[in-house]
Amino acid sequence: MARIIEERGFRIHAGYLDRAGQETIVARLREVLRAAPLYRPVTPRGQAMSVRMSSAGAFGWVTDRRGYRYEDRHPDGMPWPPIPEEVLAIWRDVAECPREPECCLVNWYGEGARMGLHQDRDEADFSCPVVSVSLGDDGLFRMGNETRGGRTGSVWLASGDVVVMAGEARLKHHGVDRIRFGSSTLLPQGGRINLTLRVVT
Ligand code: SIN
Ligand code: MN
Repeated sequence: MARIIEERGFRIHAGYLDRAGQETIVARLREVLRAAPLYRPVTPRGQAMSVRMSSAGAFGWVTDRRGYRYEDRHPDGMPWPPIPEEVLAIWRDVAECPREPECCLVNWYGEGARMGLHQDRDEADFSCPVVSVSLGDDGLFRMGNETRGGRTGSVWLASGDVVVMAGEARLKHHGVDRIRFGSSTLLPQGGRINLTLRVVT
């Protein structure tokens, strides 16, 4: 049973997916990543990110020297595969949003990977939440404010946890300071996968 924790407006459904549910989604993600392989994104300033990325859905979030944006194709030219039904089911259960997600960003964290504090603000409609699903190794999730700086809070996200960023949390800064590589047995090679579901248009 999931336990709901509210922290700085972020709603954390701890233990949302049981082990079987996590394994099913990992199997679906293997199909997604066969069709749209993980790649290493580059920030607009030319810095290679430490996470590897891909997407499913009508749009994928991409970054390169041309900037942050949504694109309807993988950087290698193929269309993004559909968002797996089991992932859509999570959105329908927790998002409290009449629209369906148009993007499922897949972030893969290997040993030493992290994600700096940022806002998710490349979407057109901020009344729709961002829903994040964590799989595999634990990740230290940092939650900040709408403006840069100020106090932040942190929580370790474990495999199967779901975070809803809605309302006052929708535009708050967030990031992942580090992962505990090898802390989970879900992914045979270790690492952490985070899915973020967004309505884009
Ligand atoms: C993100 O904000 O894109 C990822 C968050 C996470 O990995 O938990
Ligand atoms: Mn984000």
